[in-house]
Amino acid sequence: MDNRPIGVFDSGLGGLTAVKELIRVLPGERILYFGDTGRVPYGTRSRETLIRYTREDIAFLSSMGVKRILIACGTASTVLDAIDPDPRVPVSGVLYAASRKAAAATKNGRIGLIATASSIRSGLYEKIIASLAPDFSVVSRATPLLVPLIEAGRIRRGDVVLETVVREYLAPIRDEGVDVLILGCTHYPIIRDVIGSVMGDEVTLIDAGAAAAEEVKNALTADGALSDGRDPGVSFYVTDFPEGFAAVGSMFLGSEIAGRTEKIDISEKYASH
Ligand code: DGL
Repeated sequence: MDNRPIGVFDSGLGGLTAVKELIRVLPGERILYFGDTGRVPYGTRSRETLIRYTREDIAFLSSMGVKRILIACGTASTVLDAIDPDPRVPVSGVLYAASRKAAAATKNGRIGLIATASSIRSGLYEKIIASLAPDFSVVSRATPLLVPLIEAGRIRRGDVVLETVVREYLAPIRDEGVDVLILGCTHYPIIRDVIGSVMGDEVTLIDAGAAAAEEVKNALTADGALSDGRDPGVSFYVTDFPEGFAAVGSMFLGSEIAGRTEKIDISEKYASH
């Protein structure tokens, strides 16, 4: 048994899609969520900058005494290979979990992928899927306007701007005949309804954060590191504008998080040089 919290981070709101799933599969755990809202978006950054941000985010959560860290950010997960492993605090990302789930779900071997520009540029999803099933094809597209729209609270069906952008991005992927679409950025399940309405019911949507949350549960169970369930709940930390984060985050999680969101300064104390 291990009563330390689970640490989860993303550039902003996206990792909440993993938190929602963690709460569902591990209702007894305490979770510390860190959203780097002062430096969002990550999806436009270079690999070098992403490595620096990711190291700092991990240093902050480690300093809070977590037992395990989930990088609930597709973009930051692409630099996991550059993170020095610490056996006391295992770190996992979302790419492998999402790719495995997509490869298991497709029937026709045609997998769609949407993610940030940095994630698509890394080519990692394609590499992982090719290693799982060399015959499968991946139709991928960077969808850079989605994160700013979601961070701005444009998340509802009927939002004309959001629906226009989603249709423009997704119609060509749908027309390629994919039967699975990986939501490779953890922000995207927040607008799952809108994405689903363009792709149609026959296309299975893979939520990267949710897939990774299941793997966290399996790892904690295998390690005998689940908590005793006496102190469940989530605390939120952000690097800027907690009010904006709490407003959209509450809407997405379906519970008020304003009083549980604290602003921290990551620049000095956790800086990786
Ligand atoms: N939610 C993140 C991802 O999964 C990052 C989005 C961003 O900051 O650009 O890629």
